[in-house]
Amino acid sequence: MILRQYHKIAAIIGILILWPAAGADAEEYLGPGALVASKDGKTLYVACADSRQVARVALPGGRVTRRMPVPAEPTGLVLTPDGAKLIVTCAAPKSTVVVFDVASGEQVAAIRAGHTAMGPAIGPDGRRVYVCNRFDNDVSVIDLAAGREVTRVAAVREPIAAAVTPDGRTVLVANLLPDARVDEDRDGDVTPVVTAIDTRTHETTAIELPHGANGVRDVCILPDGKHALVTHLLSNFERTPFQLVSGWINTNVVSVIDVQQRKMISTIGMDEYYQGAGNPWEVTCTPDGKRVFVSISGAHELCVIDTAELLGEYANRTMQPMMQVWPIYPSLGVSLWRRIGLPGKGPRGVAVAGSKVYAAEFFSDALAVVDVQVEEGDPVDTIALGPTPQLTLRRRGELLFHDASICYQTWQSCASCHPDGRVDSLNWDLLNDGQGNSKNTKSMLLAHRTPPAMALGVRESAEVAVRSGIEHILFADRPEAEAVAIDAYLKSLEPVPSPQLVDGRLTAAAERGRKLFKSDRVACHRCHPRPLYTDLKAHNVGTRGRRDTVDRFDTPTLIEVWRTAPYLHDGRCTTIEQLIVAGRHGLRGVDLSKQQIDDLVEFVLSL
Ligand code: HEC
Ligand code: HEC
Repeated sequence: MILRQYHKIAAIIGILILWPAAGADAEEYLGPGALVASKDGKTLYVACADSRQVARVALPGGRVTRRMPVPAEPTGLVLTPDGAKLIVTCAAPKSTVVVFDVASGEQVAAIRAGHTAMGPAIGPDGRRVYVCNRFDNDVSVIDLAAGREVTRVAAVREPIAAAVTPDGRTVLVANLLPDARVDEDRDGDVTPVVTAIDTRTHETTAIELPHGANGVRDVCILPDGKHALVTHLLSNFERTPFQLVSGWINTNVVSVIDVQQRKMISTIGMDEYYQGAGNPWEVTCTPDGKRVFVSISGAHELCVIDTAELLGEYANRTMQPMMQVWPIYPSLGVSLWRRIGLPGKGPRGVAVAGSKVYAAEFFSDALAVVDVQVEEGDPVDTIALGPTPQLTLRRRGELLFHDASICYQTWQSCASCHPDGRVDSLNWDLLNDGQGNSKNTKSMLLAHRTPPAMALGVRESAEVAVRSGIEHILFADRPEAEAVAIDAYLKSLEPVPSPQLVDGRLTAAAERGRKLFKSDRVACHRCHPRPLYTDLKAHNVGTRGRRDTVDRFDTPTLIEVWRTAPYLHDGRCTTIEQLIVAGRHGLRGVDLSKQQIDDLVEFVLSL
């Protein structure tokens, strides 16, 4: 009896002791993403996104010799050609580009850039830095000596990475997403573009990637200055995804661009017939340009190829015609790439230093070190950047959401169609509401607070949609605990402040738009009431398409709608203006002036 009581008391004490640890959800992660190596190969700088630091790592030993704090999430870094300065993009609605003196490790300048600055690149003379402002859809041209932005050049949609040619004449900027309508009545390809900027005139050219490309993550220009490589997915979104194998849904590829001609010349896959290379992230090459490396963030691998092979006859003559008929064209069953499994999770940034390649393992707070000279056996080592992270439920969910290794044959992750928990801008025929009526991908933001899920509300909640996603889109049978973790991650997503806001506030035009939105005459708030901007109900708003089987669609939230084009359940409108002017959405015979429409659009885009 006493013994039993004792057990009970001990259990209660145990719970009390464990409780704070389990409940506090202390998230002290480093989150290493981007990295850059000094030319002499002796130092590595690692942008730790979560801890808001740049770690300086001494090579080859791997000791962290300094942790340099930065004012906001460090998203990218680059060294000046003389190696004297380190430039770090720190992302915020008003981003800062921080310049460190390498010798002293001290910050010497802070330069203002746009919304969510990332992917910096520097010209060969070290005078100009180009920074992608992801949510302003443009590129800041920064004069380093003057310590200020000289001009902005327009990109297309979510520019996230840049590279400069060795002659300094061209900057290539990779845009993450396509900017097109995707419904049946579209004409032309659906593709994100690489924006080429002439550095003297700042004129731009759009270089198209293949139809169905999305999730572009990086661009790298080979030292010959002739070819550039772009990592992305190739989505077979027009095919019904009733199976996954052999690249049926998403393939994982590198596209090759001819820099001078400003055009894409080939697309080479990394997948193998029975094993996808889910979610390629960064691409880099050796200083002599002879070898190319790609981090495979979802399959936790490093892909390696000889450049000659990547640009060679076999790849071009054999694979490109195959691409027309079958998506698995690129590998013909056997990948041309050497695929090296990495010890940690979520490799993103890659850098070459000496004879080794380093990959930043985002979820493991570590660097994978790959000695590519070692052809046989295990060429991989690890550098811990801090203590082994203890993953909270939310963090585990973030990892799983980006993890292609929970998918059958590692073809894709949830993030393949929902990059950063948002949208790939494509339509998919997910079969949960019949066949032949494709739907535009939905954002995960607020999904759990806005039931039911899916455009037709066919899933009663986001929880149900998460579980069916694992089963029917990743073709996997996974423990319930993983779905619970994914829920926790998705619930934690926070809206990014709209680029339309000025100092976090509505502009005067948006303020006028807000009044119209909730006026008795226009009354958008009947169906899109605050705070979620949805009444959680389905309505017939005259948007039924030829292939649809119903008239009523679930009312979507309008929060962050500025980043989720194209619009409506079938992605037929690329702008809010089209939706209101051509689509006459929500207007019920009310006529608005041009000014009123502009105001309304500005308000909606500010949410
Ligand atoms: C092949 C692309 C694709 C993949 C992979 C994918 N999704 Fe989706 N997801 C979609 C599309 C398309 C929709 C919208 C479908 C509709 O409206 O009928 C959607 C909708 C959802 C929704 C409903 C959101 C809402 O507010 O209604 C959730 C939740 C979701 N997905 C979670 C996931 C999770 C979790 C994974 C990984 C297990 C995943 N998805 C993988 C394409 C995909
Ligand atoms: C009668 C209810 C109703 C009213 C009134 C209404 N909406 Fe909607 N709204 C919807 C529904 C339902 C959808 C989804 C339709 C679809 O997907 O085909 C939608 C979609 C949208 C979208 C596209 C969102 C996306 O992610 O694709 C925007 C933007 C929008 N509405 C703004 C407005 C504005 C602005 C007004 C006022 C002028 C308004 N709505 C009035 C019900 C309404």
